[in-house]
Amino acid sequence: MDSSRQILVCQYANCLRNGSAAVLTAFQSASVPGAMVIGCGCQGQCNMGATVRILPDDSWYCRVKAGDVGAIVEQHLKQGKPVAALLHPRFHPHV
Ligand code: FES
Repeated sequence: MDSSRQILVCQYANCLRNGSAAVLTAFQSASVPGAMVIGCGCQGQCNMGATVRILPDDSWYCRVKAGDVGAIVEQHLKQGKPVAALLHPRFHPHV
């Protein structure tokens, strides 16, 4: 497990309207060892919120709902396999 991993969850206007506060809470509740959960400002992908970005992987997830957090935690953060169906196509066009 990379101890410097950061999970950025946008807490700005459009993402909040799309449930990003609940997404942030779900990541915090999951308390993944070695990962820091951070509520952040706009990531410039407002029409695709809620936006979640994972560093240093630089994986971008879009339209994330609280119900998606379990899959991201289990598959990406614990098993190292990004959840392809939720990746932002602008940054991950070939998955
Ligand atoms: S409001 Fe979340 S990316 Fe802009």
